[in-house]
Amino acid sequence: MDIVLGLQWGDEGKGKFIDLISENYNITARFNGGSNAGHSIERNGQRITLKMIPSGIFMKGVQNVVGTGTVLDPVSLKKEIENLQIFDQTVHPIDNLIISKKAHFVLPTHRLLDAFMEDHPDYTTIGSTRNGIAQAYSNKILRQNVRVGDMFLPDFEEKVHHILKRDYKQLSEDGMVLPSLEEISQDFFEAIDFLKKFNCIETEIYLNKALSEGKKILAEGSQAAMLDIDHGTYPYVTSSSTTAAGACIGLGISPKKMGEIYGIAKAYCTRVGNGMFPTELFDELGDEIRTKGNEFGSNTGRPRRTGWLDLPALRYAIMINGVTQLVLTKADVLSGLKSVAVCTHYELEDGKIETIAGSLPENSRPVLKWLNGWNADFSTMKSPSELPIELQEFLSFIEAELEVPVTYLSIGPGREQMLKMK
Ligand code: GDP
Ligand code: IMO
Ligand code: MG
Repeated sequence: MDIVLGLQWGDEGKGKFIDLISENYNITARFNGGSNAGHSIERNGQRITLKMIPSGIFMKGVQNVVGTGTVLDPVSLKKEIENLQIFDQTVHPIDNLIISKKAHFVLPTHRLLDAFMEDHPDYTTIGSTRNGIAQAYSNKILRQNVRVGDMFLPDFEEKVHHILKRDYKQLSEDGMVLPSLEEISQDFFEAIDFLKKFNCIETEIYLNKALSEGKKILAEGSQAAMLDIDHGTYPYVTSSSTTAAGACIGLGISPKKMGEIYGIAKAYCTRVGNGMFPTELFDELGDEIRTKGNEFGSNTGRPRRTGWLDLPALRYAIMINGVTQLVLTKADVLSGLKSVAVCTHYELEDGKIETIAGSLPENSRPVLKWLNGWNADFSTMKSPSELPIELQEFLSFIEAELEVPVTYLSIGPGREQMLKMK
């Protein structure tokens, strides 16, 4: 099993890369997160953003698994599938989407609780996507939630009503103005009826059998290393394990079966939501990168914060994931700048930090190295030999600093705008 992971704070371009390389696999499988993800794919000049559906869905003959480690919002998934079928009528998710019976449901009240906690002064505001992800995962850990397989049991409706009523009681006592319970229940159960038509199985058995038959699996990470619940910039993180080890847990596949681990990173950094971002740019250049890179959340439309590439954060992400190949995206966005900066380490009064382990001491200062900028028309580029010398030098510098080869370079949002470097 090979794995694709985000190494920064999400939105590195995982969807585009997976769409491209999924032709080399029999199965793509999401192992964590839910509809907080937004994985954009461009096809024939049109863009679609997948939230829950794995990014191999467009590849004929590839099966797509929504794994056990995910949290699934049936209302959101129903909409996503309907949009997908409008986007491309040749895609038939009913035939190539498989859902784990053990994935947990995101219930309508999880979304309401998420919004409540984000807005209420008694709680830390994370800047979440308000999709109820933390609330679904916390109810899973509390052992109070319902799972996909439960929808086939006779007492499922009763169980869900019980949870919804309990959450409504709490939220109305806390003063939240709530939508009608009947309405949200109706939407939810309509989506459940839709979901029941899909192939819901024990995906661990399916995936391990596929591996033993010599089939190839690509695990698709959502979010990224710096948003990992354990290793990220807590508390400003998501609520799942986003790492390579998380793929083993979320899919029920042994670590012995891991192959290539593709780490995706932008040539700069972005972040949506709150939390530390030591190389953040607050000036016009930050705005320029946001505009040129179309850095607005694929999921929520929020402007993404922008800043320079952070090597100490990347070193950490590479270390905890065991990244074997780097995929660098969005180098085209920096084109036209006279010089570009990279944070090589952090300076303290009495030393330096070369690897960020999810947090930094108050008094640390990013040390930037300035490199020559590049200027090129990336739109028609087909070969690494056409890359401007300054970008080649930038790549060599990063490879030397991180000790991992950059094997792919993405130079635009289009499917074909990807150079194989090695
Ligand atoms: P993901 O969540 O990691 O799949 O990334 P998103 O899809 O949320 O965000 C990446 C955005 O950058 C999408 O709009 C992509 O179409 C776009 N994109 C991906 N690679 C490149 C690239 O190399 N250059 C440019 N300009 N855009 C890219
Ligand atoms: P993809 O897979 C970028 C961020 C949110 C917030 C924090 C917690 O497209 O890279 P949550 O809704 O998960 O409780 O929010 O995590 N976040 C993402 N940021 N890309 C994502 O996914 C994200 N998923 C969650 O903005 O800061
Ligand atoms: Mg995204």
